[in-house]
Amino acid sequence: MSSEQSGTRNSIPQTGRVGVVLPAAGFGSRMGSATPKQYLTLAGKPILVHTLAAVLACPEIAAVVVAVAADQLDHLATLLDHHFSATDRAKILITTGGATRQLSVRAGIQALPPAIDTILVHDAARPLITPALIKRCIRAIQTHGAAIVAIPVNDTLKLAGPENKIGKTIDRTHLYRAQTPQGAKRELFVNAYALADRENFSGTDEASLLEHAGIPVAIVAGEERNIKITRPDDLSIARSILEEKKMIRIGHGFDAHRLVDDRPLILGGVTIEYEKGLLGHSDADVLTHALIDAILGALGKGDIGRHFPDSDDRYKGINSLKLLDETIGLTIKNKAVLVNADLTILCQAPKLAPHLEAMRANLAHACGVDQDRINIKATTTEKMGYTGRGEGIAAHAVVLLEQDND
Ligand code: CTP
Ligand code: MG
Repeated sequence: MSSEQSGTRNSIPQTGRVGVVLPAAGFGSRMGSATPKQYLTLAGKPILVHTLAAVLACPEIAAVVVAVAADQLDHLATLLDHHFSATDRAKILITTGGATRQLSVRAGIQALPPAIDTILVHDAARPLITPALIKRCIRAIQTHGAAIVAIPVNDTLKLAGPENKIGKTIDRTHLYRAQTPQGAKRELFVNAYALADRENFSGTDEASLLEHAGIPVAIVAGEERNIKITRPDDLSIARSILEEKKMIRIGHGFDAHRLVDDRPLILGGVTIEYEKGLLGHSDADVLTHALIDAILGALGKGDIGRHFPDSDDRYKGINSLKLLDETIGLTIKNKAVLVNADLTILCQAPKLAPHLEAMRANLAHACGVDQDRINIKATTTEKMGYTGRGEGIAAHAVVLLEQDND
């Protein structure tokens, strides 16, 4: 019985005692790719990174051990440094897996800190795991001692007889397909693995070992989407599931500033040698302003004036790339990423072509994206209108954002 159920107090908080083992030492032979499947890219990130991120999104999880093949230890460490914050990174341990899944899991269990008393095992190759499912499994372990997530079989089941003809139809009423997480109180796992070692018993999941040791295992409702990436088709299914969760948002931005004497001309963060410059409360970087407005538009968050009012002294003479940086912060907070931006500057003079690449580099850097996501064009207006007469410079921007839909 857990301390919570018995009503006793424990110095280790209940939420600090759950650990997860991610077996990730397989070769993915059924996937048939040169790289083991857990390192293949899904929606821009390796499968293993998706899985780890979902696990770490559960505040209940105090530690995660990833069991990897010996030749992937360095690669994994680099991946983790690249994709996770220092706080998340501190919860992740790496160990060397074994020749079978069972041995990899055993190595993972042994590597979990002693304070961990509840252990979940989850396939690294199931990246669509949700924090809700993890929580459900933890609750069931706390109540029953051991639990797995599984889903009822929907299809009618046939047992094949000789010559691949149907032998008989199986009653599916009590049949489930086992998924992961599968978990138990630590001592139950330790006992089950010790018995399996003594009796040379091998199973394809953790529950088999618990069952072999006579330990009752509760079944918790799994999720259809929690698929195991096993063959190339599974990767396509996972991609479409993830895409379903994205919303595409478009935004447009426009800005114009007057050209005056005694001001620097700054466009896309690049200071351009010219007899005049743009007038404004900030550095009057009309191109960056158009981009900011387009991003805010796509987010449905108003405009630049609302976020950075020119009545506020903080923004006097400010480098507009800083405002762009803040806008990108807002984008991240709203679970959106910039897919691409296309910008057009309306300017009679000076000639901007030699500066476009430097502007592109600045804007891409501030947005945290590759340069190929940003396109900048410049055009004159054939001496027509205020830009054509050299009274000012204007800029248009359109952007596409992709936002998590959940
Ligand atoms: N696994 C492991 N150690 C092994 C074998 C498998 O840690 N020796 C892990 C896999 O990396 C995967 C999970 O166990 O995350 C589920 O196994 P499976 O889907 O069978 O993966 P692979 O064994 O890599 O694939 P295959 O069976 O097609 O070779
Ligand atoms: Mg396997």
